[in-house]
Amino acid sequence: MTRKRLRIHEVATRDGFQNEARFVDTDAKVALIDRLSECGYAKIEVTSFTSPKAIPALRDAEAVMHNIKRRDDVVYTALVPNIRGAERALSCHVDEINLVMSVSESHNRSNLRMTREQSFAQLRDIISVVGQTPVSINVSLSTAMGCPMEGDISPEQVLGWVQRFADIGVHGITLCDTTGMAFPSQVAALSGAALKRFPDLELTLHFHNTRGMALANTLSALSAGINRFDASLGGLGGCPYAPGATGNVCTEELVHMLELDGYQTGVDLEKILSASALLPGLIGHDVPSQLLKAGRRLDLHPMPSPCAGTAESAVFA
Ligand code: COA
Ligand code: ZN
Repeated sequence: MTRKRLRIHEVATRDGFQNEARFVDTDAKVALIDRLSECGYAKIEVTSFTSPKAIPALRDAEAVMHNIKRRDDVVYTALVPNIRGAERALSCHVDEINLVMSVSESHNRSNLRMTREQSFAQLRDIISVVGQTPVSINVSLSTAMGCPMEGDISPEQVLGWVQRFADIGVHGITLCDTTGMAFPSQVAALSGAALKRFPDLELTLHFHNTRGMALANTLSALSAGINRFDASLGGLGGCPYAPGATGNVCTEELVHMLELDGYQTGVDLEKILSASALLPGLIGHDVPSQLLKAGRRLDLHPMPSPCAGTAESAVFA
């Protein structure tokens, strides 16, 4: 049975690389993104236009954006925290600006060095300017399913922030589980409530696998009606300003699971697996992806020879 078409957004070159100690060369970033452009993603988050002091790994954002080969059927987006970042992103002709703030005050202050109200004021000014251009606007709301410093954030508070952005005309909202605190029933309840209250917004879910629940949370969001997901090749990812943050849901594991279950992700699993295999060489260490180690479910192995001998002798004995 073929089930519904999903939209997968690749975030490895932003959420993934932002958290890596080794600087990935600009040319290598460009080559990887060009390769990912051929894999069937709906959207690629290329980089972020943040302060190079805060996120040195992405200090080459302009060069990367200018040098990638862009396809018409892929949305190229970039994360933007403030007005300076929006100016930089617009100068590179991004298709979408992905604004970011946290729904918890503590994470907003540690990540963006602003109060939530200061962030909102900057983002509102950006939206009023960018709203006059063809560039779309998404807002990623960090810590929407728990803050590592404050704990639970009530769904009413989260939806209140969604409402404030919906009221000023954003196209999409991403609910981010920044440090993998979400659990399936919580995800279903929040996703269902958001879809019901904001039927015209494009809603995306962004999970991290910090506590091993990212795929379970994905299935829960799907059952609530969500069809857009952020994911990171190799399972890279994590916010350097969120204590305990680790990788995003792994794209190849997500695609592998969803395609087995009959969903159409649009993403070519073989191609992303070969792209994922390049990551250790770029970042200098192994990646969390279990699929990269184990192979796909039906990637079969030859029978080990001593056992093969035993089987034969058993048959002919
Ligand atoms: N792009 C490039 N430089 C920027 C910038 C941007 N978007 N925003 C600020 N800067 C520069 C300023 O020009 C200034 O430079 P200077 O020291 O050479 O004069 C310096 O950064 C400090 O500027 P200020 O406005 O005081 O920023 P800040 O130090 O309070 O930091 C942010 C605020 C939002 C810019 C910074 O915290 C940030 O980029 N955070 C992003 C965190 C992130 O991406 N987390 C992971 C994703 S959720
Ligand atoms: Zn993230």
